[in-house]
Amino acid sequence: MVAPTESDASRNPASPPPSAENVLEVRDLRTYFGLDEGTVRALDGVSFDIKRDSVLGIVGESGCGKSVLARSIMSIVQPPGYIPSGEINYTRPVNGVMQTDDLVQLDPDGEKMRSIRGGEITMVFQEPMVSFSPVYTIGNQIMEAVMLHQKVSKAEARNRTIEMLGLVGIPNPERRIDEYPFNFSGGMRQRAMIAMALSSNPKLLIADEPTTALDVTTQAQILELLLKLQEEFGMAMILITHNLGLVAQMAKEVAVMYLGKMVEQTDVGTLFSNPQHPYTQELLRSIPRLGRTKQTSRLTAIKGSVPPPYSRPSGCAFHPRCPKVISGVCEKFTPEPIQLSENQFASCLLYSDAEEHKMGETLPDTTAISSSEPEEKE
Ligand SMILES: Nc1ncnc2c1ncn2[C@@H]1O[C@H](COP(=O)(O)OP(=O)(O)O)[C@@H](O)[C@H]1O
Ligand code: SF4
Ligand SMILES: [Mg+2]
Repeated sequence: MVAPTESDASRNPASPPPSAENVLEVRDLRTYFGLDEGTVRALDGVSFDIKRDSVLGIVGESGCGKSVLARSIMSIVQPPGYIPSGEINYTRPVNGVMQTDDLVQLDPDGEKMRSIRGGEITMVFQEPMVSFSPVYTIGNQIMEAVMLHQKVSKAEARNRTIEMLGLVGIPNPERRIDEYPFNFSGGMRQRAMIAMALSSNPKLLIADEPTTALDVTTQAQILELLLKLQEEFGMAMILITHNLGLVAQMAKEVAVMYLGKMVEQTDVGTLFSNPQHPYTQELLRSIPRLGRTKQTSRLTAIKGSVPPPYSRPSGCAFHPRCPKVISGVCEKFTPEPIQLSENQFASCLLYSDAEEHKMGETLPDTTAISSSEPEEKE
């Protein structure tokens, strides 16, 4: 039994109280981009939890909304992006008492969000040059981050920076602290970015494709390092990747994303042994495996490609690509998450009661086409 948390004023009092077990509870989160071509629903009702000390893998093809989700949590979505609705409930101990803030409700430039972003919740990006300015030394940039989030002197910040650079495996940190980003190799820059992200002792680290730009050997070293530090620091981690192999190595829980929605969520063992959503099954079929016979060793790709973001397919957005599509149903009805076992959810009409559709309990997502009502303006 987990003690309920103390609510903060920024949280919606009508929502059920978050569990103290979870560092983050995201509820029905929507992030849209208003473009001339139409509204891009980059996140279209995303919900998930992440436990303290746990690693959640978020997987999906390119363009499914993974980075927008990370940016939404960090409160760095820039116009024309906006969050029309949803909650990001962040719970942590403050002076010994559990406190929850809904990050959606906080002013992105306000004092509270600035201390959470980069201090309590930090991020490692695919490309370290995004995080480091080329004109300052690596050391100065990490020291600045340390002093922004901790009350320490410049000398203490320098010592902490040297300690962190050593911890992430940078040789001679006392000397390399005064070098510039261009003096570092890609792998070393990525290590320095991890040092910066961890220097504030965060509660949650979001790693967005942290090793995609690196060679395979360096990838393995960086991932091993991230996992070791995640355990040592006792923090939660969201690992965003399009690579299911990485998820298998790193994560405990997995959420599979397709076009702005979580389509399946379960533990990593179940995901690989008993995937239930056709999209997950297709993703798994598309990864190469050792030991396949010659005839089957060819890589399979998922049929078709992710559709343009402002022309989202009706009903289940995966229906044009789904090998199990139920004709006349999947293009009309939007699947809701269904609990299939204690720790497995999938949003697929294969698992919902067909009678429900006939009774109209699942609302069609095609109201603009099938009714005479004017189309909803966004
Ligand atoms: N600044 C932006 N302006 C307009 N559309 C955007 C912007 N950022 C992301 N998107 C759109 O949101 C969708 C999700 O993007 P993203 O989160 O980057 O995908 P992923 O990280 O899964 O590859 C894409 O369709 C992308 O085109
Ligand atoms: S709802 Fe239909 S189209 Fe969507 S994943 Fe399930 S079977 Fe495929
Ligand atoms: Mg991305």
